[in-house]
Amino acid sequence: MDKKDLLKLAAEMTLEEKALQMTQLSPDMLYHLAPANLTGPLREWRFEDEELWKVGSTLGPLGASYLKKLQKDYLERSGKKIPLLFMSDVIHGYVTIMPIPLAQGCTFDPELTEEAAAAVAKESAVSGLHVTFSPMADLVRDPRWGRVMESCGEDPYLNGVMAAATVRGYQGRDPREKGKIASCVKHFAAYGQPEGGREYNTVDMSRGVLRDFYLPAYEAAIRAGAAMVMTSFNTVERTPATCSRFLLRKVLREEWGFDGVVISDFSAVEELMNHSVAADDLEAGEKSIHAGMDIEMMSGVYAGTLRRLLEQGRITQQEIDECVMRILELKNRLGLFENPYKDADEQEEQRLLYCGEHLELARRFARESMVLLKNQSALPIEPSAKIGLAGPFACTGNILGGWHCEGKPERTETLQHALETVCGDRMVTAMSTHFIRGEKDVPDQVEEAVERLKDCDICIAAVGEPEWETGEASSKTCLRLSASQEKLIHALKAAGKKVVTVIFSGRPLDIAPVLEDSDAVLQAWFPGSAGAGAAADILLGKYNPSGRLSMSFPRNVGQIPVYYNYYNTGRPAAAKADNYVSRYLDCPNSPLFPFGYGLSYTTFACEGLQVEQTAQGGERCACETGRAGDRAVCTASVRVSNRGERSGETVVQLYIRDVSASVVRPMTELKAFRRISLEPGEEAQAAFTVTEDMLSFYNEEEQWAWEPGAFEIMVGLDCEHVEKKEIFVPARTGGLEE
Ligand code: NOJ
Repeated sequence: MDKKDLLKLAAEMTLEEKALQMTQLSPDMLYHLAPANLTGPLREWRFEDEELWKVGSTLGPLGASYLKKLQKDYLERSGKKIPLLFMSDVIHGYVTIMPIPLAQGCTFDPELTEEAAAAVAKESAVSGLHVTFSPMADLVRDPRWGRVMESCGEDPYLNGVMAAATVRGYQGRDPREKGKIASCVKHFAAYGQPEGGREYNTVDMSRGVLRDFYLPAYEAAIRAGAAMVMTSFNTVERTPATCSRFLLRKVLREEWGFDGVVISDFSAVEELMNHSVAADDLEAGEKSIHAGMDIEMMSGVYAGTLRRLLEQGRITQQEIDECVMRILELKNRLGLFENPYKDADEQEEQRLLYCGEHLELARRFARESMVLLKNQSALPIEPSAKIGLAGPFACTGNILGGWHCEGKPERTETLQHALETVCGDRMVTAMSTHFIRGEKDVPDQVEEAVERLKDCDICIAAVGEPEWETGEASSKTCLRLSASQEKLIHALKAAGKKVVTVIFSGRPLDIAPVLEDSDAVLQAWFPGSAGAGAAADILLGKYNPSGRLSMSFPRNVGQIPVYYNYYNTGRPAAAKADNYVSRYLDCPNSPLFPFGYGLSYTTFACEGLQVEQTAQGGERCACETGRAGDRAVCTASVRVSNRGERSGETVVQLYIRDVSASVVRPMTELKAFRRISLEPGEEAQAAFTVTEDMLSFYNEEEQWAWEPGAFEIMVGLDCEHVEKKEIFVPARTGGLEE
């Protein structure tokens, strides 16, 4: 349809049709069924039957035959024949489940992330989906918050690169194409910083912090073309994001030029009343409309108030029409007016869902995402060793992670099976206890386990947290392993065993208490459908681990939030030994394991940093953040070598620090990275171009600019171990056109 026809269609719609076009419900509700798989409160609904069949979009259940029938029924009933839009939470896989996003961040591999998102899009598209509520670009620093699993971590740049790759994977060049879906980036904005890590809690931060850390990843996703944006539940600067004109009108639409659809989170429009910024539903509707919030998810405020608001002159027809046009344009962009079923296809579902190719991709992705945190000559396991396996993750397929959609734990390979396939009777398994919902711990069978594994040379403790303690509404104040899991590790060590601790979790846990008694620690996260095979590949040495932490590990919960890109204080701890510095009495400031950290079975060195400044106002170059008119400032290069005996991949990381600026700047900021693969004894140069854009930040006037002066350029294999050089970048004195 061309724009003219869309405008004509919009002009013919009644006010009621418009309000319902701007409303999203579960598809099951249209058939008077109890909504399935929903992640929010259900209320009494005020919709009449006829109204239900006019809502513009649905969220939740998928499946080609169900959605085809629904679309057909809908179009038969609908006067205007505007197709329904199907949205859902396909977060890290539809049936083939990829590692959780926090683990994806640890790959530092946007190409693989894009490839995986493309596979996820194919499975979703043939199952009838049009839009996925992903990626989640919320920056996270507090592992008490359960949703850190859905983020790519604590760094704005890494988060942005991964969010953009995910959007490209889902949408391709055009979401209308076969096998593509539209992407809805969420939760705009700053949902990742709830006070105290408590779900849905207030977010309050300075605008500078918001700009420095929290906004860039959403922006990157939008620059990559994300078709939709979901608002967050929280407040930002005392206004709930769902009705924030600053966020939705100024930042999103004016500054970033976003012209796609904005949707609220689940019943967030109605929740404006709980936030005490709306006295009644009229005010909730009015404020959301003024902010340009196009679709209301799972509450009926728009449907119930738009007419009255218009009659009372509290909103304008133009405001409504703008929302409606954006929704119609999205439907058009997806080609739904020509083909309302898009790619829904039962036969293709048979062929694609959980196919060998996708499982193989999921295995590669999971392997790259696991992080080897410690290794004292325990891994890889010797080919002849007798291996013991114990712990609640030994024999379970519950390793997919929260939001695993149609992933099936019962057909997911277990670690026991994956190891046995290779090791046969060299494997002994003990204590296949499982977490039980509502129970604090797995049954304590530690003594039996130690007895059963007494003849093993090496013991794997497969431990972690249950899946349901991660994701939405899963905040915790204690991040330690449960008592019996810690006891298992201590008991195996006390029995003289080499202990390999493999951790399945959706967040960095507080693992300090088991670190000493673990000879090796592999952070496996929730690795998805092929995660057990991937872990076995690493444990048995078929794959050399290469994952790097996307989020710092705390030394204890009291240290949270602990993250690498902090601002300096006036009394930095390292400067003096005396008491009046910024530190704790009982714990260092540094994390247990820092951002960017991860071991491998070989030894990589990164040295000989050379920094060459480019002639002033240097050449224009492709800018990693996609901003126009960027210019090179210097090039930085290092020699990376593999000094060990195994081939492997490492991640070379470039950080900068603005030594003195008009406002405080982070002590270290990731600006670029490269994954490099090296054979034993091989060397390579890793070269980076540092650009003006990389030196820029939002100043007090909220302008994006860089300031002349000294900068530190740092390169290393994690954020703490870097070589650095200082450069002085003078003010640009013209010479090149703006
Ligand atoms: C609430 C969650 O916050 C959001 O991430 C999700 O997309 C919606 N529910 C829809 O399920």
